[in-house]
Amino acid sequence: MKRAAGIAACNWVKDGMAVGLGTGSTVSHTVVELGRLISDEGLSIVGVPTSIATRDLALSVGVPLVGLSDVEILDLVIDGTDEFDPSFSLIKGGGGALTREKIVAQRSRAMLVVADETKQVQVLGTFPLPVEVLPFEWEVTMSRLSEICPGKVKLRGASKPFVTDNGGYIIDCDYQGVISNPKLLESEILCVAGVVEVGLFCGICDAVVMAGGMGVETLLKENGRIV
Ligand code: 5RP
Repeated sequence: MKRAAGIAACNWVKDGMAVGLGTGSTVSHTVVELGRLISDEGLSIVGVPTSIATRDLALSVGVPLVGLSDVEILDLVIDGTDEFDPSFSLIKGGGGALTREKIVAQRSRAMLVVADETKQVQVLGTFPLPVEVLPFEWEVTMSRLSEICPGKVKLRGASKPFVTDNGGYIIDCDYQGVISNPKLLESEILCVAGVVEVGLFCGICDAVVMAGGMGVETLLKENGRIV
């Protein structure tokens, strides 16, 4: 299913585009397919990767890369998600790349998400919400985060912390199945000193290419930037 969604998303990529390349096992199929389209069908695009892993993958399959500041704006970013709700708000960061993913998404004309049907939820919050924090006194930042989270908060990696591409740590926050106001929670978490970024993406995603038992469908957000 991840492969089907990842490949189907390439239908939205047109010649001459600058494309943000997300991170994760689903969008990796998109990157590989883009490489095939470039070599076999003469597609001409440039990509901006959201992680070191995606950069390495893109280079290995022949997708030309540029820096984000080299382009005025990206035409499209394609990325995975850990959850999406009916208003196309997302939880991202299962792979720890949320900060770079949000930087790239905010500089894109539109965002297309690739997902299998298990990622579709009515309410965000079952997947633990990833928050990237500075390593400096991370226990203090985590304790502050625990005051605004009803469930457990834990450092990813426990005995040996998971380190992001930015040198940060990830705190996974259990919202016990309910984030009732993702936008508000995003700003509350961003107010905590030591927080670099939170994996809530609100008002950014325009469409989801979702693969399920019945095949692949594209869900378009009403009044979104993808039509
Ligand atoms: C990485 C992400 C990923 O896009 C998200 O975790 C989905 O990954 P996958 O496609 O492997 O299920 O946000 O930071």
